[in-house]
Amino acid sequence: MTGEGSIASAVRAMQAGALDYIVKPFKASSLLPVLARAQATRSLRMANAELERQLRQNVMELAEANLRLEQARTAAEHASAEKSRFLSNMSHELRTPLNGILGFAQILAADKLPATQLEKQRFARNIVQSGQHLLKLVNEILDLARIEAGKVPLALEAVDLPNVLQECRMMVTPLAEKREIKLGFGAVPERRLRADRTRLVQVLINLLSNAIKYNRQRGCVGVACTETEDCRVRIAVSDTGPGLESDQLQHIFQPFNRLARDEEEEGSGLGLALTRRVVEAMHGMIGVESKPGQGSTFWVELPLVPETAPKVQHA
Ligand SMILES: Nc1ncnc2c1ncn2[C@@H]1O[C@H](COP(=O)(O)OP(=O)(O)O)[C@@H](O)[C@H]1O
Ligand SMILES: [Mg+2]
Repeated sequence: MTGEGSIASAVRAMQAGALDYIVKPFKASSLLPVLARAQATRSLRMANAELERQLRQNVMELAEANLRLEQARTAAEHASAEKSRFLSNMSHELRTPLNGILGFAQILAADKLPATQLEKQRFARNIVQSGQHLLKLVNEILDLARIEAGKVPLALEAVDLPNVLQECRMMVTPLAEKREIKLGFGAVPERRLRADRTRLVQVLINLLSNAIKYNRQRGCVGVACTETEDCRVRIAVSDTGPGLESDQLQHIFQPFNRLARDEEEEGSGLGLALTRRVVEAMHGMIGVESKPGQGSTFWVELPLVPETAPKVQHA
């Protein structure tokens, strides 16, 4: 509002952002439409600001959704590559014993190749051995696939730790004796673990038989159990074998990961992959510490069953 209306002051007022320009004196009737216009402009501006805010939020949400999509795509590609690798490794592993079976069977079937009775028996034994190896492979592959698909029912129960370790010890003693490996089981806490008993035995036997197989002649295998602060028990299996390089450690739990030097040892390369899946399905953890030339320690951690307080005897 101004008492000195001029074109110059009007221009200045509009440039400064005024909504309107009226010259004094004025009547209320001429002020009211100006106020109405001002109010309309104000609500338009507010609506506009709100729209802008919503737009910004939508753009942000879109960007986040894109990021998630991209991550999902990378994960899917990774999983697909892993599956392909698994399949090609598997075919390779299956072909080796199958070729053995076919080769020896063809020799036995050919009349042209004379073979002594002793040789025939040896060929037949080879066929049986390859067949057994093949069957073991197929069983382990199926087991792995079932666990991965979450189709293995786990019967989680309270498992007595000393008892289960005693059982494992009895099972691996013949293998250890055959290779003159000394087995040393340290003090075992009188505790119970939450686990599937059969699967826990499978896990421990896998670790123990590896520690015996990939050891030196007359080496040692030690088992140590410790309670952790977060109510778990760590069972560590140590050996005096060749140990592992750090790049070997990274892939040790992947399927069909056999180190070149162990070709002559019987195995599928699926033991540790299976073991890890089983331990994780039981809400446990698995790991390894190793240095070349200093042996390896494979460990698993499983939850303890909380022991109930001793019952109070009432008189
Ligand atoms: N305690 C160990 N010390 C050294 N190498 C090991 C040990 N345990 C496993 N490995 C290596 O990891 C590979 C994979 O082990 P695993 O999955 O149990 O398969 P497998 O015993 O059938 O070969 C083995 O072939 C061996 O090369
Ligand atoms: Mg093994």
